[in-house]
Amino acid sequence: MPIHRLHESHDLRSKILPAELLSLFNDRFIRSCDLIEEYIFRLALRVVRQAGLVAPLAKGGTATEIAIGAGLDPLAGPWLTDWLLRLLTERGVLLCEDGIPARFQISNPLPDLDPVEIEQMQASHDATALPSFQLATLAAEGYPQVMRGESSGESILFTADRIAAWAAYFSNKNPLYAISNEIGARAVQAHFPHPRGTVLEIGGGFGSGAMALLDRFDEAGAATRINNYHFTEYSPIFLRRGQRALMSRPNARGHITCARLDMNRPFTEAHIEPASLSVVYGVNTLHVAHDLAFTLREIYTALAPGGLIAASECMRPFPAQTVYVEFIFALLASFRSPALQAAWRPNGGFLTPEQWIEAFKTAGFKDSFVWPDIFNIRDHYPAFVVAAVGATRP
Ligand SMILES: C[S@@+](CC[C@H](N)C(=O)[O-])C[C@H]1O[C@@H](n2cnc3c(N)ncnc32)[C@H](O)[C@@H]1O
Repeated sequence: MPIHRLHESHDLRSKILPAELLSLFNDRFIRSCDLIEEYIFRLALRVVRQAGLVAPLAKGGTATEIAIGAGLDPLAGPWLTDWLLRLLTERGVLLCEDGIPARFQISNPLPDLDPVEIEQMQASHDATALPSFQLATLAAEGYPQVMRGESSGESILFTADRIAAWAAYFSNKNPLYAISNEIGARAVQAHFPHPRGTVLEIGGGFGSGAMALLDRFDEAGAATRINNYHFTEYSPIFLRRGQRALMSRPNARGHITCARLDMNRPFTEAHIEPASLSVVYGVNTLHVAHDLAFTLREIYTALAPGGLIAASECMRPFPAQTVYVEFIFALLASFRSPALQAAWRPNGGFLTPEQWIEAFKTAGFKDSFVWPDIFNIRDHYPAFVVAAVGATRP
């Protein structure tokens, strides 16, 4: 387990992170990041066994060959197998021969490591991060069925009895999620383009991103720069919960509006007028777009000249590197299988910083930014996977 990074990274953090983020990336937070990564590694080892991948891995092959060898579903099986095997390779328990596609092979028997022991360590270290562990546990339980094509990830992760688990996960009380809201809020404040304007949030979920942003503007004495915060979400259940949270804020009436918006459909269907917005914002939402090129064009059209698109996103530091949180979201077909673009969307899941910049450029935006500077950070600390990306409509 990468405990050594905790000691190494203290000095490093002050060199590679902006001063204003140092207090967020403290030892407590980094320790929780290390624990969730270790927890997901151990869950992944279990899933690899349960899905019957060990015997085909002993022979070696590409992820598709191994998934077929294990009798898995031809759609979900290879994608999830590839992700799991790349993670195990990064953790040094598999051999991988680089190539397109890569070939995987077991070198030594896979370790059998108990995930529960790590969850217990997290419980005594910082129990507020446990919702991330709970969601990863639910995902792990669903993997074998999804990999065999017996169920969809959507039907496993979004049952009514799992809403509480999602609400606890997408929360500012969960430090492993709140970090994205904090970084996003700071980026929007720093880049707010007009003296006053309307903010549209897409995929606002349970409202934790909106809460963090509005708190940030309140604390900075900048609340009046937001004429209207238009909070939108696709899922009616999430929207209701988000709306309830936001409308409980003082002065919400007349200042915050809430509506359903599907980012895969023309924004005018959700009554968003062209050139009407100062900011379009999303926290871990844009990568879910089925056709990101289409959604970026809709955002471009909805922004007034000089308007800002800003997205706080999990960042893939390098192509093909796994990001721990994908273990949960990769169960969803919508996450795995968006419309692809050869130049900047070669796979489903999270994008690299270069891919975001290319995506913005292709959609006609200018002055794109990645904050903090993942280009520098990733060389020193490849486990750093959160950042805000943004750009301006000319
Ligand atoms: C990672 S969550 C964001 C959570 C949110 N930031 C919060 O604090 O609760 C991604 C969100 O995108 C939403 N989403 C999925 N498909 C969408 C679509 N087609 N249009 C708009 N939102 C969508 C999901 O329902 C989910 O709430």
